Amino acid sequence: MNSSAAPSAAMLYELFMICFATLAKPYITGHKRSENKNEGENAMMYCKSVGYPHPTWTWRKVDGTSYKDIDNSTGRFFITNRDNYTEINILNLDITTDPGIYECNATNVIGNTAETTILRVRSHLAPLWPFLGVLAEIIILVVIIVVYEKRKRPDDIIDGKKGGLNYDM
Ligand SMILES: *[C@@H]1O[C@H](CO)[C@@H](O)[C@H](O)[C@H]1NC(C)=O
Ligand SMILES: *[C@@H]1O[C@H](CO)[C@@H](O)[C@H](O)[C@H]1NC(C)=O
Ligand SMILES: *[C@@H]1O[C@H](CO)[C@@H](O)[C@H](O)[C@H]1NC(C)=O
Repeated sequence: MNSSAAPSAAMLYELFMICFATLAKPYITGHKRSENKNEGENAMMYCKSVGYPHPTWTWRKVDGTSYKDIDNSTGRFFITNRDNYTEINILNLDITTDPGIYECNATNVIGNTAETTILRVRSHLAPLWPFLGVLAEIIILVVIIVVYEKRKRPDDIIDGKKGGLNYDM
């Protein structure tokens, strides 16, 4: 009698433990620390999780100490959510509005976790700066030479005449 009741209690206890051991708050196992792109390019950020129940995913922007919902008024933000994965794609990056800290937030009945990715957007011109610097130096040198030559010219003419005279002699 007792021998038939005891195993079922143990089984129930085991089942109970298995359920509670597997029910956990989401745990984010992978995400990008940073994403660096040029303006006009597309950015992609993601978060991966393990744990059950699968989380519901949300993305938001960290603005100092507060949070902002993703402003999709330009229609450039695309979010793909799967059970254990979320991905945000931002098309045609805008250098003024898009850079910042993006947070993926995984929430289930047990709790929530969040991770952040820093999005940096470089100007189109950034790769050109060293070249433009050299170009500016060349222009300044040319201007200095031209100004110097113009100032020198009256003397040069005299020198030239003298030189010519000297040469003739
Ligand atoms: C995520 O879910 C897919 C299918 O639901 C599964 O094949 C994959 O192993 C899962 N990955 C992780 C890290 O849990
Ligand atoms: C953003 O807007 C585009 C275009 O209206 C839409 O297709 C997309 O689903 C929106 N993304 C989000 C995250 O709401
Ligand atoms: C995730 O989102 C939930 C619901 O909006 C919120 O209560 C929670 O504070 C967020 N978690 C983190 C770590 O930001």
